[in-house]
Order: sequence, then structure tokens, then C-alpha cells
Amino acid sequence: MSDLIVDPQQYVITKEPYYEEVNSETSLYDAAYRVRMPMMLKGPTGCGKSRFVEYMAWKLQKPLITVACNEDMTASDLVGRFLLDKDGTKWQDGPLTTAARIGAICYLDEVVEARQDTTVVIHPLTDHRRTLPLDKKGELVEAHPDFQLVISYNPGYQSLMKDLKQSTKQRFGGLDFDYPEEDLEVSIVSKEAGIDKETASKLVQIAHRARNLKGHGLDEGISTRLLVYAAQLISSGVNADVACSMTMVTPLTDDPDMRDTLNAAVQTFFG
Ligand SMILES: Nc1ncnc2c1ncn2[C@@H]1O[C@H](COP(=O)(O)OP(=O)(O)OP(=O)(O)O)[C@@H](O)[C@H]1O
Ligand SMILES: [Mg+2]
Repeated sequence: MSDLIVDPQQYVITKEPYYEEVNSETSLYDAAYRVRMPMMLKGPTGCGKSRFVEYMAWKLQKPLITVACNEDMTASDLVGRFLLDKDGTKWQDGPLTTAARIGAICYLDEVVEARQDTTVVIHPLTDHRRTLPLDKKGELVEAHPDFQLVISYNPGYQSLMKDLKQSTKQRFGGLDFDYPEEDLEVSIVSKEAGIDKETASKLVQIAHRARNLKGHGLDEGISTRLLVYAAQLISSGVNADVACSMTMVTPLTDDPDMRDTLNAAVQTFFG
């Protein structure tokens, strides 16, 4: 019954991820990491949270283990389980356990999606105990000194039913993320997709119009991610208005009136 040996190096990011600082978040995160404070990154979809974690993991040269959370996820998916093989049963660590053992930054993406009985497994890891009990295996894992837990959280989606408990929330320091201000977003879109700033600027201006429609027919505004998609299509030769429809209208809404409104904004800049 031997545990799999994991090489932490396989989780270390070797190439610097492109990340533009928006609001002193790198130094604030640095300070939080120094005391191994669990961190909660809040912000709308596609605004740079995951990219930021990759950048910080690279900057700190720590392994990064990312887990995409969903409502079917069980505590065993995080912590581990016994597997049957030809020699009998074998314990397999889940990603959270691996991260705690090797001293990785463990990024639980969209943690609100997970059920509450799943999220409570992070409690002993996120207070002074810094331990993870593997109940089924009868082992208490002491987190490696470098281990840190980071979760992301999209404040828009939660209903009261789907929110973290206060006892979970209050184990984290928080950083707010949002779409970058205009000039910075233009730089990001232009750099990520290799297009000129003039075109990137038009895309950002369309996004600003659409973001004003949030809560007035749109659940979310156009994310930086979608702007990068649009720019990538334009850069590979797709007509700008078609590229914008594909990335900034069709994915966002099925409502015909809202689509007309968004397409009209596109036509204003690329008609
Ligand atoms: N500050 C930034 N610097 C560089 N790129 C950025 C920045 N912000 C956003 N981006 C771009 O936006 C894209 C989406 O960002 P990311 O995947 O980090 O979003 P997210 O906040 O994690 O979204 P989700 O909540 O949907 O997971 C990135 O792939 C990158 O191209
Ligand atoms: Mg993400």
C-alpha cells in the first residue's frame, strides 16, 4: 500500500506568464504568501484571476496545482481515495493532499460550485492547524511549510443557497479583481493577440458599452477573455464584425433584442 511519489518540479511553471498588474495585487499577494495566508480572489469571469495565480506561482517558484470545482465534486475528489488494482487496494492522494504534501499553491477555481460538505475539508488546512485528516486512510497530513490555499469566487453568480459559509469565508484574505481600466485592457488585448492598439481599443470600447448592460438584460459584461478571443480571430484574418459577433455576442445571450443591441455596438466601431 504505497503512496505515489510526486515530483513537485512537474507543477512548477517555468515560463513567465504574461500578467499586467492592475492594482498592487502582486505585492499584496507576496505579503499574504509570506505568512501563508489562504487567499480568496473575487471577480467576474475572464478578468485575470487564474492568470494572476499562474504568474504569482511562477514568481514565487512554487508548484501550482489547480482544481476546477463543480457541484458533483466530493471530498474524496479533493483528498483522495482507495483504488483497486491487481495487488489489492492502493491509496491515491487527491490534488489537495498532493499540494499539502509537496508545498504547492493549491488553487480551487470556482469553489462556490462545490457542495458545502466538500468545502469543509479545507477548514483544518486553513487555520493554525495546517493539517489535512485523511479519515479513510487514518492519516493526518501536516501541510508542507510552503503550502498555500487560494480560491476564486465570482460574486455575481451566487444565490443565498450557493454561497460559502461564513466559517469558510473567514479563513481567507481577499483580493478584488475586475476588468482592467481602459488603457491597460487595450495593452493586454493587443499583446495577447498580437493586434494593433487601435483595433484593440475599439474592442475595449465595445466591451465598455456591453458592461453597462449588466443587470439590464445581460448577466455578465464582455470579459477581457472574450476581447482576447475577438482579437485573435481578427489577427488570423476573420472580418472584425464577424469576429465580434462570434466572441462578444453569440456566447453572451440568446435574447434577440439584446443581440441586436450588442451587434449595433459592434457596427458603430467596425461597420
Ligand atoms: N492583468 C492581466 N494581464 C494579462 N492578461 C490578462 C489580464 N487580465 C486578463 N487577462 C487575459 O484575460 C484572459 C482571461 O483571464 P483568466 O483566465 O485569468 O480569467 P479568470 O478571472 O480566471 O476567469 P474565470 O473566473 O472565468 O476562471 C487571460 O487568458 C488573459 O488573456
Ligand atoms: Mg479562472
